[in-house]
Amino acid sequence: MPQPLIERYRDSLPLEPDDPVISLNEGSTPLVEAPRLSERVGARVWLKVEGANPTGSFKDRGMTLAISKAAERGATAVICASTGNTSASLALYCSVSKLMRGIIFIGSGKISYGKLSQALDYGALTVQIAGDFDDAMARVQEVSKNLGIYLVNSVNPFRLEGQKTIMFRVLEALRWQVPDWIVVPGGNLGNSSAFGKAFYELKQLGLIDRLPRLAVINAAGANTLNELYNRRKVRWNAGAVDLASVGGYYHELDARHKRASTIASAIEINRPVNLTKCLRALEWCDGVVREATDQEILDAKAQVGAGGLGCEPASAASVAGAKKLVAEGVIGKDERVVCILTGHQLKDPTATVAYHTTDQDKFNEVLGSRGVKRAAFANRAVAVPNELNEIVKAIQLYG
Ligand code: F0G
Repeated sequence: MPQPLIERYRDSLPLEPDDPVISLNEGSTPLVEAPRLSERVGARVWLKVEGANPTGSFKDRGMTLAISKAAERGATAVICASTGNTSASLALYCSVSKLMRGIIFIGSGKISYGKLSQALDYGALTVQIAGDFDDAMARVQEVSKNLGIYLVNSVNPFRLEGQKTIMFRVLEALRWQVPDWIVVPGGNLGNSSAFGKAFYELKQLGLIDRLPRLAVINAAGANTLNELYNRRKVRWNAGAVDLASVGGYYHELDARHKRASTIASAIEINRPVNLTKCLRALEWCDGVVREATDQEILDAKAQVGAGGLGCEPASAASVAGAKKLVAEGVIGKDERVVCILTGHQLKDPTATVAYHTTDQDKFNEVLGSRGVKRAAFANRAVAVPNELNEIVKAIQLYG
């Protein structure tokens, strides 16, 4: 097996010489220039295909380091709350470590089948909380403290350190030419935090001469960062984040019984645990924040898919956001934009099939209920009778 990335980048990561390394060759994912998508977005777009990791998402990059550290501490169990991908990753790395039991907390009915099936198959103890991700996240922190079980959500600093390698690989692929923009979906805000830290450290080391700009894209139905950053003007403020404003907003959400709700279930989060670190990254990278509707997310997802790479809904928020920022004139048409496709297309086939379906009831049930009105980029299946002539005719007509 090639050298694990966390060993390769050892000098920039908190990996001690004697630490065990539990790796599945994660992280060597492609960065692909996307000319057709660039035309649609209106700038020069590269896609970082994180779905090519062992469990189909970027989470493996942080999990390898967190599980290696858990092994070094002699942990016999690790625990996390998840919208699905972290749990899939935890389940696999625990299983291959043969050292520790994986325990995952998920919200009820909130996780896509692709992800749930991974966690179940890899043998994690799967605890379904009667609530959503924000509930599960709050509970898992209590349980981890109560039972002394090692927590590997992205509040665990090793997870975020491991995720810095996404940016190391982007820069390597671009031969250390810093792109103008990194655009990333924002959920628990671990990636954006990790990216800011990666660039800050590389600049300190003199390996890059400037930081790219960072755009973090929320789903409109889970838009805490957008609300706090753009409407309430909450900033890093040299570490003195206005936590009263943040708390006030959460209080309002509770008073209105407003829960996160989006087809992009990976980022269906109202209380991002890495909020302050993300604000720091936004300051370092002269960042911007936007939100994308489920309609915009699914249209962008279909355009990514049509270009030959697929992704799950949350990932496409990056492309939808980039398009929006070009339309606003924030991203220039000649600028080089790297969109992070955080998770694999097969993670959530329900959303994909509902978008492309000819069955209006199915469309309404899965997407119409979320305000998605049309599927302008759908590739619909053609129904034909089981007769040679009819099949040939259909192919001649549609082929
Ligand atoms: N995209 C995908 C596919 C994800 O799974 C997640 C997070 C994000 C984007 C958001 O990244 O939290 O760093 O801002 N998924 C977590 C999970 C919450 O439990 O799998 P973030």
